[in-house]
Amino acid sequence: MPAGRDLTADDLPQLSYLDNVVSETLRLYPPGPIDLRKSISAFDFEGHHIPAGTSIIISPYVTHRLPELWPEPTRFDPSRWSHQRKPAPYEYLPFGGGTHRCIGSMFATTEVKTMLAHFVRERRVELLSTSDAAVGLATMRPKHGIPARVLS
Ligand code: HEM
Repeated sequence: MPAGRDLTADDLPQLSYLDNVVSETLRLYPPGPIDLRKSISAFDFEGHHIPAGTSIIISPYVTHRLPELWPEPTRFDPSRWSHQRKPAPYEYLPFGGGTHRCIGSMFATTEVKTMLAHFVRERRVELLSTSDAAVGLATMRPKHGIPARVLS
C-alpha cells in the first residue's frame, strides 16, 4: 500500500493480496450458499433426465469445496489465487452465474476492498475468537459474529 498518502480508487487494482483475500473469503463462505432454479422445459444433463417444473438447487458452497477443483479446499489460502489456475465461471460462483448473475458484483467487491484497505491500514485488531462456524440458508454469516477488539 502507498506510504505517506491517502488511498485512492486508483490504488485498488495494485492491491493483489487484498484481492486474493476477498476472493478466498467468498470461496469458503459464499454469502449466497445456495441458488434455486426451476426448469421451464425438460432437458438431459450428465445422464440425468430433468422433467419440466423440476426444482434445482445449485450450491456455490459445495462447488467451492470440491477437492477436484480446489486443492485442500477447506484451507483458507489467499495465495492459491496467485499460483492456482483461474477457475472457470461455474467453478467459482459467489455472485451466481448465467443471465441472472449479480449485477452488483463489481460494486460489492470494490466496496469491501475499499473498506478493508482503509481499515487494516489505520487500525490494529485483535481477534477474540477464531470460531469458524457459519450458518445460512438464504445467506451465510458467522454464527456468533466475529468478536474482536480494536487496539488502536
Ligand atoms: C457480496 C455482495 C453480494 C453477493 C455475494 C451477491 C450475490 C448474488 C447472487 C449469488 C446472485 C444470483 C442470484 C440468482 O442467480 O438467483 C445475485 C443477483 C443479484 N444481485 Fe447480488 N450480490 C451482492 C451484492 C449486490 C449488490 C451490491 C447489488 C446492487 C447494487 C446486487 C444486486 C443484485 C441483483 C439486482 C441481482 C439479480 C440479477 C438478476 O436476477 O438478473 N448484489 N447477487
